Amino acid sequence: MSVAVVILAAGLGTRMKSELPKVLHRLCGRPMVTYVVDAAQELAGTRPLVVVGHGAELVRQVLGDTADTVLQEPQLGTGHAVMQAQSALQGTADMVLVVYGDTPFITVETLRAMLEHHTREQATATLLTFRPPDPLRFGRIFRDVTTDRVRAIVEFKEAAPEQLAIKEVNSGIMCFQADWLWANLPNLPIKHGERYLTDLIEIAAAEGRTVAALEANTDEVLGIDDRARLAWAEVRLRARINERLMLAGVTMIDPATTYIEAGVTIGADTIILPNTHLRGKTVIGENCKIGPNCVIEDSTLGDRCVVKASFFEGATLEDDVDVGPFAHLRKDAYLCSHVHMGNFGEVKNSRLGPGAKMGHFSYLGDADVGADVNISCGVITCNYDGKNKHKTLIGEGTFIGSDTMLVAPVTVGKHAKTGAGSVVTHDVPDGTLAYGVPARVRKQNK
Ligand code: UD1
Repeated sequence: MSVAVVILAAGLGTRMKSELPKVLHRLCGRPMVTYVVDAAQELAGTRPLVVVGHGAELVRQVLGDTADTVLQEPQLGTGHAVMQAQSALQGTADMVLVVYGDTPFITVETLRAMLEHHTREQATATLLTFRPPDPLRFGRIFRDVTTDRVRAIVEFKEAAPEQLAIKEVNSGIMCFQADWLWANLPNLPIKHGERYLTDLIEIAAAEGRTVAALEANTDEVLGIDDRARLAWAEVRLRARINERLMLAGVTMIDPATTYIEAGVTIGADTIILPNTHLRGKTVIGENCKIGPNCVIEDSTLGDRCVVKASFFEGATLEDDVDVGPFAHLRKDAYLCSHVHMGNFGEVKNSRLGPGAKMGHFSYLGDADVGADVNISCGVITCNYDGKNKHKTLIGEGTFIGSDTMLVAPVTVGKHAKTGAGSVVTHDVPDGTLAYGVPARVRKQNK
């Protein structure tokens, strides 16, 4: 039996009080709708169809080629939203599963169990229900008192007082026999200017068809409607990510203050210390020690690296590199194996060769530094002349003295040396010593 998945994501999400469409609010670094798209893709083996409306262009951009989209304009209810999917999906699958874009905790296992139940029961429609502590605004599951079969979903706006007392409610996740769905969607009545998808349940039950129901865990199906719920979801998802990593061999001293986004991978025997934020597509190798107080974004670290209280954006570290405290690695900082970078250093678009050392208070921008170079305290590459950026090249085994200004474009050769406080405006040949302001080559570096 094949299934097509429709994800409803056209609503405004008023309770978020945001200009950003609700489904694009982030959870552990990813827009919440992407979690639903992943689950749908895994379940069906094909791209889901997302119904977009508010902020349609933004949502489409975020989804890229992970999902197909269809526009619902204006938004006239959940039934009307599914109607927009009809021409794209009719004839493509035996079952249609409707999921909301604001339920990022829904698991493939639950969706699969629902489809199996639907097939076993030979149902026309199957609902995922739940029992929240406060069922106030949810559609009530109205069952026949004698048979206990589902007869209708009664929206809270229309519910009589005795129906409001019903504790079992509709999660919004529903599965339909496809042909029946497409034939009956046009029969939905218009209520308060909207077509409710939930009214199909009463239509199916009145025809004597089977409406099946499966109860789910509240935390899994309760939508993210406001910022308080968003924060709750963030904490819960973070705990889930941390647990997965810990079970895979990562040590966390304090998981409650360890903030790791969904796309991060970490090797076994790495230790993450408190208040560490690992973001984006960061990859960390084995046996590293990260933190406390690090923010590492879209960066790749090899094995046995040690990073303390530092900030990385788009950096790469080979194996056995140690950095910090208080270092800033910006885009395209590349530190080869056994580099040591101490406190208050900044590196941007620069490569430090194997074993290079940069202990204290230095800035390297647009530089290529050879193996075993020593960058002493306070060295600066003056890479920007106010208009353009220029390169600094430093050959292997060279010693750059404290407080040297390297006025780019400039090359300091191999096994050379600059004196403390030099301002290097001209190239320094291999094996020479230059010092002074401006620096002159004085003698061989012996
Ligand atoms: C809906 C259900 C209700 C259920 C509740 C669970 C209906 C009529 N009611 O309530 O039984 O208990 O969900 O949360 O279906 N959407 C569109 N286009 C629209 C309207 C909504 O795409 O025109 C999308 C929203 O973006 C959202 C989802 O559908 O992802 C649900 O919309 P929402 O307004 O939250 O549902 P309710 O009407 O509160």
